[in-house]
Amino acid sequence: MTDVVYYVASSLDGYIATPDGGVDWLNPFQASGEDYGFVEFYSSMDGLLMGSRTYEVALKQGHWRASDKPSWVFTHRDLPLADPSVTLTSEDPAQVIESLGARGLKRVWLMGGGELAASFRMLGLISHYMIAIIPVVLGKGIPLFAAASRQDTLRLVEAKPFPNGVIQLNYELKPEPKKR
Ligand SMILES: NC(=O)c1ccc[n+]([C@@H]2O[C@H](COP(=O)([O-])OP(=O)(O)OC[C@H]3O[C@@H](n4cnc5c(N)ncnc54)[C@H](OP(=O)(O)O)[C@@H]3O)[C@@H](O)[C@H]2O)c1
Repeated sequence: MTDVVYYVASSLDGYIATPDGGVDWLNPFQASGEDYGFVEFYSSMDGLLMGSRTYEVALKQGHWRASDKPSWVFTHRDLPLADPSVTLTSEDPAQVIESLGARGLKRVWLMGGGELAASFRMLGLISHYMIAIIPVVLGKGIPLFAAASRQDTLRLVEAKPFPNGVIQLNYELKPEPKKR
């Protein structure tokens, strides 16, 4: 099955954006010139998945940075296409992942946001979590995951601290113990 990697930056208190969707609080950590392993990560991905609100932020920026990989945007609306590499879908996430596997995609980046990530998590579709914890407490905002009634236990693969206080956490989903 295609590995789905949820890779995002989160405040210490678990928010990926301010309540109005703002991500300016990330700027000081991006301006440092440190890429936090992003180039290597991105080159290892076969495609991108995102929710419509995350996509709309990219649309507002006016240029599509990921035209070298296929992207799927989950939406029930008829949004403009930012690039020929973008596909809009309202299919169930499990069906989309199955069709990506059939097309030979091995690893895809689940870019967020928290609402789409929650629908993937509810279906047990997220295999890896790469969360950059940013040393900022936002107090309120858009959560890393929208609420969902499912508990997952993870296995730590790596925790990498950076001098500016960012910690890159890399977890994978721990397989359920086999029932006897
Ligand atoms: N800090 C970071 O690294 C980071 C990363 C990514 C995003 N963000 C921020 O996160 C915010 C957006 O996150 P969010 O949680 O509000 O929204 P989101 O997950 O990006 O988008 C949610 C929308 O996607 C569509 N959707 C979700 N699940 C679906 C499904 N299973 N099938 C079909 N459509 C589905 C629905 O829109 P429709 O009404 O169109 O159907 C839903 O309202 C933005 O402000 C963005 O900047 C931050």
